[in-house]
Amino acid sequence: MTHIRLAVVQDAPALLEIMKQYIETPITLEYEVPSVADKETQILAFSHDYPFIVTEDEREVTGYAFAHRNFEQPGLSWNAELRAFIRLKQRGHHYGTAVMNVLMDILRLQNIRNVYSNVTEGNPRSERLHSKLGFTKVGVLHKTGYKNGRWLDLQLFEKRICDEQYQESPAPFIPFSQLDRAKVDEIIAKANRELAAGGN
Ligand SMILES: CC(C)(COP(=O)(O)OP(=O)(O)OC[C@H]1O[C@@H](n2cnc3c(N)ncnc32)[C@H](O)[C@@H]1OP(=O)(O)O)[C@@H](O)C(=O)NCCC(=O)NCCS
Repeated sequence: MTHIRLAVVQDAPALLEIMKQYIETPITLEYEVPSVADKETQILAFSHDYPFIVTEDEREVTGYAFAHRNFEQPGLSWNAELRAFIRLKQRGHHYGTAVMNVLMDILRLQNIRNVYSNVTEGNPRSERLHSKLGFTKVGVLHKTGYKNGRWLDLQLFEKRICDEQYQESPAPFIPFSQLDRAKVDEIIAKANRELAAGGN
């Protein structure tokens, strides 16, 4: 039975295996799979401030997803970028939908208001996933990526995950590590109940 849990540094080798399945494609604009040590560092660094989760079944980690900061300036603290990767053979079982929804539910607890994804041209699965989740394609960065001898467009997807009120003093961003763990566990448990029921 596939379920979602928080990522731990020991997941690094499995995450690299999944990344290897995509590294030759324009889906990721990374050129090389990092070392295990570098992936461990990324998990630790990202998961301090933002959610970093995996899906796994009885045998192996089947996918991973995380949020990270996309703009450095303090005035842009209420935004995050999302990424998700599901093992090739595990695609199409709604795990992508489930992990993206968990990330967004946790980010709401952190007072994040807007989430973004960059999708390279020619990735219809990802485009469909984002449309299904209520993202809007807000623009195309033309020929901005280069990989395997080709210049590639990057599509920018946006979703507002807060209510539409624009208070003068928004609630501050809360780093993931400072969240009430019980609330995070409840979001993950709810998603796992839905996965077990074949929902999404
Ligand atoms: C994009 C990705 C995360 C989707 O994960 P997934 O578990 O396969 O997605 P889901 O099963 O939740 O399907 C989501 C939607 O994608 C669409 N989809 C599924 N299979 C598809 C296919 N073969 N062709 C086109 N669209 C497809 C459907 O609209 C589906 O929703 P629906 O079944 O309710 O109609 C996964 O394919 C992946 O890891 N791709 C490589 C990395 C990537 O592109 N990440 C996204 C950018 S951050």
